[in-house]
Amino acid sequence: MTSQDSGTVVVFGATGQQGGAVVDGLLARGARVRALVRTPESDKARALAARGVELTAFRIDDPAAQVAALEAAGAFSFMTPDSSSPAEIEDEVRLGAALVDAAVAARVPHVVFNSVSGAEHDSGVAHFASKGRVEEYLRQSGLRVTVVRPTAFMESFSFVPLTVEDGELVLKMPFPDGVGLKLVALKDIGNVAAAILLGLANVPGGAIEVVADQLTGSEIAAAFGARAGLPARYEARPLSDVSDVEDRAMFRWFAQASAYPADLAAVREIEPAVWDLPEWIRCSGWTAPADSGRRDQRAG
Ligand SMILES: NC(=O)c1ccc[n+]([C@@H]2O[C@H](COP(=O)([O-])OP(=O)(O)OC[C@H]3O[C@@H](n4cnc5c(N)ncnc54)[C@H](OP(=O)(O)O)[C@@H]3O)[C@@H](O)[C@H]2O)c1
Repeated sequence: MTSQDSGTVVVFGATGQQGGAVVDGLLARGARVRALVRTPESDKARALAARGVELTAFRIDDPAAQVAALEAAGAFSFMTPDSSSPAEIEDEVRLGAALVDAAVAARVPHVVFNSVSGAEHDSGVAHFASKGRVEEYLRQSGLRVTVVRPTAFMESFSFVPLTVEDGELVLKMPFPDGVGLKLVALKDIGNVAAAILLGLANVPGGAIEVVADQLTGSEIAAAFGARAGLPARYEARPLSDVSDVEDRAMFRWFAQASAYPADLAAVREIEPAVWDLPEWIRCSGWTAPADSGRRDQRAG
């Protein structure tokens, strides 16, 4: 399908990681894209415009402008920004609801919400529950809705502690070993969402968990070690090491979430070229950090 028969796709969050990946997936498929951005003069917004993306200013206190931006859209993609404190969480839900209201007023034929894996469960994570509330609001809206629920971004390994100690690659996470962590690369979230937005993929039940790999801590460490040409070791750190309450709840949930089977085949059916973790490590240009020459961080 081309932009000719899909109409313009409006994207909220296009200057961010997920929305940016959705824009990439849409442009790669020849779609016309309009981005709803709060700062059209920002470098990221200008970079989108330079790639042919139409920019429309977004202000949460201007519902009429939001509706106008969505008028005649073929489809609408949105996510809600990260939140942590109770006030931020209420802001996240308010933003999501405002975007849904605008989509209703503009009679958008199909809305795709990038939520989070776990929003559909009682995860104990406040910024997952907030997305569950936006999902519920969408369901009540009467719109045609598809929910895309990404698992943990592989890109997070750019800042998760990976060290080299005496020639050994060491990964430490507050996550028990022997349990599979669900992972996906941003580009695959974008490609899956784009295919759905353009009507190139059907999602039975109206929601899909976007998961591309599921690996234990030792398997993740081994994948990085293999790339670095080093032996690897995983250290499961206790949850009590995590000072942030939300992060602690999230890692607790990640361990519980392995009880819900990952449907890798459903994602591959939409995006056959999905990256597993070794592929992400290779393609992201990840390189091992310098050897710290010490084994001083062992659990205990
Ligand atoms: N990290 C993970 O592993 C993971 C996994 C699944 C789901 N998630 C969820 O993904 C979300 C983060 O997505 P992301 O990484 O794409 O976010 P991001 O890179 O921080 O981008 C956020 C986008 O939202 C816009 N934005 C932020 N606050 C806004 C506001 N108040 N009004 C209007 N626009 C606003 C930003 O615009 P500006 O350019 O103007 O700032 C930007 O386009 C979070 O909700 C998180 O819970 C994360």
